[in-house]
Amino acid sequence: MSIKRIGILTAGGDCPGLNAVVRAVSKNALQHGIEVIGFKNGFDGLVRNEFIHITAQTVSGIINRGGTILGSSNIANPFKYTLAPFGTPENPQDLSSVAMHNFKENGLDALIATGGDGTLHMAHQFIEMGMPIVGVPKTIDNDLCATDQTFGFDSALSIVTEAIDRIHTTAQSHHRVMIIETMGRYAGWIALRSAIAGGGDIVLIPEIPYNDDVIVEQILARKSKGRTFSIIVAAEGAKNEAGEQTVSRTVAGSTDSIRLGGIANKLSDMIESRTHIESRACVLGHTQRGGTPTAFDRWLSTLYGTKALDMVLEGKFGYMAALRGFAMTEVKIADAISKLKLVDPNGAEVRAALEAGMSFGSRQVG
Ligand code: F6P
Repeated sequence: MSIKRIGILTAGGDCPGLNAVVRAVSKNALQHGIEVIGFKNGFDGLVRNEFIHITAQTVSGIINRGGTILGSSNIANPFKYTLAPFGTPENPQDLSSVAMHNFKENGLDALIATGGDGTLHMAHQFIEMGMPIVGVPKTIDNDLCATDQTFGFDSALSIVTEAIDRIHTTAQSHHRVMIIETMGRYAGWIALRSAIAGGGDIVLIPEIPYNDDVIVEQILARKSKGRTFSIIVAAEGAKNEAGEQTVSRTVAGSTDSIRLGGIANKLSDMIESRTHIESRACVLGHTQRGGTPTAFDRWLSTLYGTKALDMVLEGKFGYMAALRGFAMTEVKIADAISKLKLVDPNGAEVRAALEAGMSFGSRQVG
């Protein structure tokens, strides 16, 4: 099949490196004489038929820019559409046939869908309807099982590690417990790797349930050794031994209906009242998703984009570009969304953290 015209979209939560993917796909496609249109705001653009024509000019000078020139959305789900004027959170509409119609009307031979777990689930549903889609794995959470690393993760890590470094000096000056809350949803990758890199004292991740008593004991033990400050890195999705996470709010109609958040403030109150050591919470929030991508993410995004276009040319639809070691490969999207990639509580990274003297706030490991 000869490819003449393709679409690309960036969906889900944004992250550094999206523009580098759009650039790599577009530059390669244009060199092959393939027209590229970029749908605006993820799958919303496919429903509303809103897009831009991508030229060499459009993608010039964007490799170092954060965010996405196409816009993104993590609430526009064509299968449960809740946005005005077509749907509401109370009355979601299935507009997948509208999206399918727009895909065909635009004379597209393929769609490159860049996104995380939610986006790939939607892509999979469209593939089953016959839309030729190639996926590119994006997310700062690094929680997709079929790839060694998603782009965006390295940039988030470097932002969090810098924040830990900065928090360290103020924690030391004021003899405080500082709790840094990271993103990551149901996976602890951002918290664990940044805590290792930043020399955190306690790290709390969803994969290893924490216990308040252990956290308090650890802080007091540090104090008795003359360490008057402690740095805790808490993943937003960390669970206590009762399996409870801290939820900030629910979002009707979103692919991810729960917004996690609030663990740092909760722990700060608990620690201050039980240890009488001044404690402060620092919620890094969306700073982790913003700004310029690291060199690694620019490199990785460029490889992903190039591989995705190769896959389109080879007719590898229903597959996602994936990183194995330092090489690009491809995996079925259906397999990529089958389970999340989580930190192994018995794995080498957890052991390395323990060996470095870090606590997981748990009696189960360490
Ligand atoms: O999946 C990426 C992510 O940044 C998560 O780490 C976080 O829980 C979520 O998205 C936040 O979503 P929103 O941008 O809707 O607040």
